Amino acid sequence: MTLAAAAEDRPVTAAIIDGKGYAAGLGERIAEQVSAFSGHTGRVPGLAVVLVGTDPASEVYVRSKGRMARKLGMESFEHVLSEDTSQEDLMALVDRLNADETVDGILVQLPLPRHLDSLAVIKAIDPAKDVDGLHPLNAGYLASGLPGLVSCTPLGCLMLLRSSLGDLSGLDAIVVGRSILVGKPMAQLLLAENCTVTVAHSRTRDLERRVAQADIVVAAVGSPEMIRGEWIKPGATVIDVGTSRVIRDGVTRLVGDVDFAGATTRARAITPVPGGVGPMTIMSLMHNTLLAAFRRAGLAAPELW
Ligand code: GUN
Repeated sequence: MTLAAAAEDRPVTAAIIDGKGYAAGLGERIAEQVSAFSGHTGRVPGLAVVLVGTDPASEVYVRSKGRMARKLGMESFEHVLSEDTSQEDLMALVDRLNADETVDGILVQLPLPRHLDSLAVIKAIDPAKDVDGLHPLNAGYLASGLPGLVSCTPLGCLMLLRSSLGDLSGLDAIVVGRSILVGKPMAQLLLAENCTVTVAHSRTRDLERRVAQADIVVAAVGSPEMIRGEWIKPGATVIDVGTSRVIRDGVTRLVGDVDFAGATTRARAITPVPGGVGPMTIMSLMHNTLLAAFRRAGLAAPELW
């Protein structure tokens, strides 16, 4: 029992949603389909990841994306460009990757250095290879309910919600955060699942009251433990996208956007940090790369979740 629960005599009720375990299972299914794809086409799906600069966190992400692609039997092309790369050179690389038949997925790691125009780069990526789902065409497909490529983190969150809840139809959902990478596509995905969706952001009034009404809370603000456990509606399902490094009692810890200890006394299920959404983001990228490869080869894409 947590301290908060003990003080109010509330038991821990939440099941832990095991993103790491779900991602491992999905990875096995992807690896099988990589073999099937190569049986059909004589080649394996290829993922190109572009990193500009030396941001340490981005370097770690890019390396782990390449490692996972190789582990699942895909080809990984890693392009590391210097911090002072020009817009023209970056756009020229994207053009080359668009034209390269061995590349099925292109991901340009964000954020880019300040002198570069991210939106112009995203718009230059062939939408059929946009495994990040960030191109306006893919964002538009999602909003229109048409098949496209969906941003990896929200896709991973939806997989976990479906695995935990089954049918989401009719549930009240709140997405806290409105970024193009997570909040906006998450809201569209939940709407497509027939949820009633509220999108909250930094100007939202009375966030506490709105969170307290939600059956599903997706927190994606990047503000450590901003969403208090006592705000959570008893029986709600909580997906925590945040990962912040904090120092407590001299020890560095990773915490999410939700006060995990408090929320576990009220929620029916919750993702941990780490081990919840994080592993799903990278596996969704592998999923999207496989999907893009099948579609580009004119083959029916397998249903993997
Ligand atoms: N930086 C942090 N997360 C992401 C992501 O999902 N895609 C890209 N391109 N950059 C990121």
